[in-house]
Amino acid sequence: MNTSPHASSSGPIRDLQPTLHSHGAPPLQPKSLSSQTTGIGALLAEQAGRGQSIEWSPMLSIGIASIDAQHRVLVAYINQLTHAVAHGQTARILQAVLAGLDGYTRIHFRHEERLFALHGWTEHVDHADGHRAFERQLAEFRRRFEDGDTSIGLEVLKFMIYWLAEHILSDDMAYSAFLREHGVR
Ligand SMILES: [Fe+2]
Repeated sequence: MNTSPHASSSGPIRDLQPTLHSHGAPPLQPKSLSSQTTGIGALLAEQAGRGQSIEWSPMLSIGIASIDAQHRVLVAYINQLTHAVAHGQTARILQAVLAGLDGYTRIHFRHEERLFALHGWTEHVDHADGHRAFERQLAEFRRRFEDGDTSIGLEVLKFMIYWLAEHILSDDMAYSAFLREHGVR
C-alpha cells in the first residue's frame, strides 16, 4: 500500500479532487456536505488523489470502540481501492473490494441499527435510510461490474470517500453522543 507523502499525482486518479469539488455530489445525491465535512472530505479526496492511504486518526473516531473498529475496515477498503486505482484499477482487486464492502456493510449496518433499537434512538429511521441508500448504490456498482464495466474504480472511490466524510463523520457523530450517554462504549 502506498503511504509515501511524495506519491505521484499523475495517473488515473489525479482528477479525483477537482471532480469531487466541482460536482460535490456522489451518485447517491444525498444532502449537501456540511462545512465541516467539506473540509475533511476535501482533505481525504486530496490524499486519495495523490495515491496516498488514509491513516486512521482520532479525527475519524466517533468514540465508540466497536463502531470505530468497523470504520477502520471501511478505511482499509478505501485504501485498497486507492492503491488499485492508482495502479491501473485491476479488475481482480475491484471485484474483491466490492464484495468485501458488501459483506462489511451488512455486518456494520446491522450492528449500528441493533444499537439504535436497543437504546431507543429516535432518529434511527433517517439514519437507516442512509444505510439502505448505500446498499442500493453498492448493488448498482456490483451489477455494473458484473455486466463487464471494470472501469468504475474511480467512481466507487469517490463514492466511498464521500461516504466516509458525510455519513461517518457527520451522520454517525449524530448518534454517538446519544449512545454514549446510554452507556455504549
Ligand atoms: Fe451509519
